[in-house]
Amino acid sequence: MPKKVLFVCLGNICRSPMAHGILRHKINQLDLDWDVDSAGTSSFHVGEAPDNRAQSTMLEKGIDISDLKARSFSPNDFNAFDEIYVMDDSNYRDVLNQTNSDEQREKVKLFLTLSNQNVKEVPDPYYGGDSGFEHVYNLLSNATEALISKK
Ligand code: 4NP
Repeated sequence: MPKKVLFVCLGNICRSPMAHGILRHKINQLDLDWDVDSAGTSSFHVGEAPDNRAQSTMLEKGIDISDLKARSFSPNDFNAFDEIYVMDDSNYRDVLNQTNSDEQREKVKLFLTLSNQNVKEVPDPYYGGDSGFEHVYNLLSNATEALISKK
């Protein structure tokens, strides 16, 4: 059974598409049969490609996410995905508010809790400078390694 993983942030143009791109890249390298997607709790940027700073940070690592398009999280995602990884506490609350069963609630986790890092939330880099994106990349990359080794 392919594992179906969804990443969720606020805008779906910075953190969750970066996580999506990192996991998609590793899945291709490892020839794993997993489904990956990402979504935002808001509709602010629906239809847009990832933020230019997110795209360039990823390209420096050899990962192209220019094909991704922002979409909104929907309660249908609880049926479509096995594991839903949110970036921060605010995303967690927004997604949990849309659940209606323990089965759905158990699918939702803060992504960084998978890895042993000293932060549990991925900071929102949208209003910061470019260095924020490098930091976000490192946090996401470490958590993605943990996700893959968990299988
Ligand atoms: P993201 O970053 O949630 O990582 O995609 C943000 C993108 C856009 C906004 C906030 C955060 N915004 O307010 O438009």
